[in-house]
Amino acid sequence: MKFEEFELERNQSLFEHKVDFNLSESGLHPLPLKDILTREEQQSLLDTELIYGYTKGTPLLRDRITGLYEGANRENILATSGSAEANFIAIMTTLNPGDELIYMVPNYLQIRGIARSCGVKVIELPLHEELGWQWDIDELRSRISKKTKMIAVCHPNNPTGSIVSADNMRGIIDIASENDCWILSDEVYRGAELNGIESPSFYGSYEKTIVNAGLSKAYRLPGLRLGWTVGPRDYIEKAWAFHDYTSISIAFHSDWVASKILKKERRKEILGGTKKHLNENLNTLREWVGSLDGKLSMNLPQAGAIAFVRIHMNESSEKLTYHIRDNFSVLLTAGKWFGLEGFLRFGYGPPNQYLSAALERIGTSLKKI
Ligand SMILES: Cc1ncc(COP(=O)(O)O)c(C=O)c1O
Repeated sequence: MKFEEFELERNQSLFEHKVDFNLSESGLHPLPLKDILTREEQQSLLDTELIYGYTKGTPLLRDRITGLYEGANRENILATSGSAEANFIAIMTTLNPGDELIYMVPNYLQIRGIARSCGVKVIELPLHEELGWQWDIDELRSRISKKTKMIAVCHPNNPTGSIVSADNMRGIIDIASENDCWILSDEVYRGAELNGIESPSFYGSYEKTIVNAGLSKAYRLPGLRLGWTVGPRDYIEKAWAFHDYTSISIAFHSDWVASKILKKERRKEILGGTKKHLNENLNTLREWVGSLDGKLSMNLPQAGAIAFVRIHMNESSEKLTYHIRDNFSVLLTAGKWFGLEGFLRFGYGPPNQYLSAALERIGTSLKKI
């Protein structure tokens, strides 16, 4: 088995720590532990022995995660190293070579890359900008075949920041259940909605549903590498056995911290801060795009610290990204790396002053084209 290159992550890994300004991240600026743990908790963390822990995640952590999904109990949860591992495990344990997977595009192309590398046929179904970056449900219906084993959504979506509409959600669930295929919903941006109303999870609407998520985006803790997969009990058992081969267990101190911050009140406080920060920064980005004499335009995102911005210049997304990176030391991400040419993704989650300074540089760079 040979894995194809994950262009987005490769470009980030190579340059994110080299540039003056990194706008390639999709989450909000990370939080330090001192801002989210009490003094006693900080001391207690220092005193904690770093054992292997429970390979499924501690019972306390899994109980806390159940609080995010109606109807879930501890046996429906496996803690993973980021939602990235959760996605990997979900594909490896449910699909076989020759199966078909219907996939949202544009998207964070991790699931596409893993599935294709394993011999799964990935059918890319476009989100339509004119529909507010939604699927046309009739189009989805027309692409289902006997070989379709999974419909994979990213909800809220990276890179567009769109949330699957209630009608589309119903349609996807109906089509999946009529055709006995899995729904895999990557919900890592859930909790980072600009209006502060958490988008409904796909979990619980249909038995063969897997939801993957984690603390990297809305909770601003990517360095914990804390994610999870939620699904039916027999799927979790298989996923757990596969996890013995990937990371065995998550880092014990990450489990410990996550158990604290997923307490209802603490969670609410963090997500409140997320909403405020997102709205402030989106205003900054929107004003800046408006000042560019039509060189760029954007549909407003509904969630995530990401905006998918249309290019109105005669340049490819990759060329423009490299030009801005190499001459002005600002890292953006190219639409091509999400499966759609003609766009740039702006990560607008850094501190506001940093964002403004980066945008000013990009403004200068665009004048030079
Ligand atoms: C849609 C989506 N899923 C999964 C991931 C992986 O995130 P993590 O492993 O940090 O939870 C990302 C990262 O950007 C993402 O955008």
